[in-house]
Amino acid sequence: MKEVKVETKLSVIESIEELTSAEKELMLKAIQAREKAYAPYSRFQVGAAILLDNGLVLEGSNQENAAYPSGLCAERVVIFYAGANHPFNKIEKLFISASPMDRELETPIPPCGACRQSIAEYEVKQDQSIEIYFMGTKGQIYKSDSLKNLLPFMFDKGSL
Ligand code: THU
Repeated sequence: MKEVKVETKLSVIESIEELTSAEKELMLKAIQAREKAYAPYSRFQVGAAILLDNGLVLEGSNQENAAYPSGLCAERVVIFYAGANHPFNKIEKLFISASPMDRELETPIPPCGACRQSIAEYEVKQDQSIEIYFMGTKGQIYKSDSLKNLLPFMFDKGSL
């Protein structure tokens, strides 16, 4: 038996002020989208903003449901919207901000496993990496150059 070590890579950005002005605008869109979340059950709000290769910015937030599993995460709301309405455009960047409704959060919140799998599908489809930036409400931002850093051993069409 041999052990395999898997390495992954993220960049840590100390605050939103360290982003370029274009990236800061996009993170602010994710923050604004977070405030539109419909999250009466978890009271945990997530906002996401996507930059397409034509410059268009799309936004989404988590949408919950009394039948809990029928709700959807912000990342999938926005990425499925992109796939449904702009199928021929590439997704260049994804910005995420998340926190409980009643307090600020300094810990960067990564997309959940199901969202990572969904983002992976579009990265493979467009054959171009998606940059992913995620944060709480303030403080550090983590940046990944590709979904692949967040989902080692990912399942995609090559596995079928
Ligand atoms: N949520 C997201 O929107 N994105 C994630 O990646 C993780 C969780 C939402 C789902 C649910 O509405 C709330 O946060 C609590 O799990």
